[in-house]
Amino acid sequence: MSAEVLESARPSHVPADREVDFDIYNPCTLEADLHQAWMRMRDSMPHGIAWTPHNEGHWIALAPELVSAVLSDSTRFSNRIVLVPKSTSGEAYSEFIPLSLDPPRHRPFRKVLDEQLKVGAVNALEGSIRELTVSLIEAFLANKRCNFTHEFAEHLPLQVFMKLVDLPLENLPELKHLADQFTRPDGSVTPAEATAQFQKYLAPILAERKGSGRTDLLTHIADAQIEGRDITEDEAVNLAGQAMVGGLDTVVNFMSFAMFTLAGMPELQAEIVKDPGRIPKLVNELIRRLPIISSGREVISDVEVDGVTLAKGDIVIAPTELYALNESVNACPFEVDLDRAVKKQVTFGAGPHICPGQFLARLEIKILLEEWFARIPSFRLEPGQDIKHLGGVTAGTTSFWLEW
Ligand code: HEM
Repeated sequence: MSAEVLESARPSHVPADREVDFDIYNPCTLEADLHQAWMRMRDSMPHGIAWTPHNEGHWIALAPELVSAVLSDSTRFSNRIVLVPKSTSGEAYSEFIPLSLDPPRHRPFRKVLDEQLKVGAVNALEGSIRELTVSLIEAFLANKRCNFTHEFAEHLPLQVFMKLVDLPLENLPELKHLADQFTRPDGSVTPAEATAQFQKYLAPILAERKGSGRTDLLTHIADAQIEGRDITEDEAVNLAGQAMVGGLDTVVNFMSFAMFTLAGMPELQAEIVKDPGRIPKLVNELIRRLPIISSGREVISDVEVDGVTLAKGDIVIAPTELYALNESVNACPFEVDLDRAVKKQVTFGAGPHICPGQFLARLEIKILLEEWFARIPSFRLEPGQDIKHLGGVTAGTTSFWLEW
């Protein structure tokens, strides 16, 4: 979003001491580390909620209990708008379901995704995910180095997802580019155009798959029943669009953060090699330590929160980063500690919209770590690289090289 930062003057209901200079699409101005950048901003404010003029002006929940309340309390905070700037990304994304729907309308659509993404359904994919993971690692193993982003992270989750929706891999670059326009826009197309292009791409495919007897996620959506009636064509397109955006960006970025972090932890690597049975704990701890999503909600009607009035229509961003990295939630939150007693996080969200793709994401991360450590027991970042953390609704990193 840096191409066009839309600053807004502070509205009269926002007290001056709530204002903070923070752009969620470009948070790493003073800190190179994304998570440190969020915490530095939080520490600079004495309040539980702040307001930034960037991206048309919006609130940011800072206190952990507010982050989870904003994500989960649909009586005060609506999902109609989850992205900023509200008038562009927010409105364009409000067509996608189930994320833009509040309960009870949300539930039947969400059920359609859950049926295909629940633990049992996802576990059936384990063999093929492992096979692909091994073949990707074996392709660069002998080189003693790899560009982790380009040679692994951009392949595994995306190929798995394309298989889930049974779409040709040659369409992947275009679909990924469109999905990224909502999470880390580069200004190449407007959010409204990205929504329209998704709809144009998906509509004929869903029409063709309806009643086709195929078993992929898109066919399942095309054939779905919503409270006893057929899903409409528009609903199917918008449900499929949401699944695409969720599936095409998040795991790529999470894996990049995970391996970037582990590359700097030789002792932890040795611990895992000695006892690979600790990998499930490592997966959980990385998920806690590396939240990357900052979505938002629209205030339903004027409401008092943390001593200020949030006005009807205001947007509040609920950064998942600020929950698990708060000292009051997890002790020594920046440490990767496999044995921590309390391990609280909202990395996959909270409340009715909690991520339906989390079982698939967890499985992919677990398999990556198992197959990686079985072949590459010790690795580090290649020296001399200028690796940047990137902000956004889904944060990411620039590509980087690992060596061993
Ligand atoms: C590490 C990977 C992932 C992370 C960190 C993540 C995180 C999240 C978060 C925080 C939310 C809630 C957003 C909100 O309440 O505003 C969410 C929702 C969602 N995610 Fe994920 N996600 C991941 C992977 C996936 C995958 C692989 C898929 C698809 C296969 C997916 C599909 C979705 C969908 C469809 C929603 C909307 C659910 C609803 O509105 O009920 N996600 N995700």
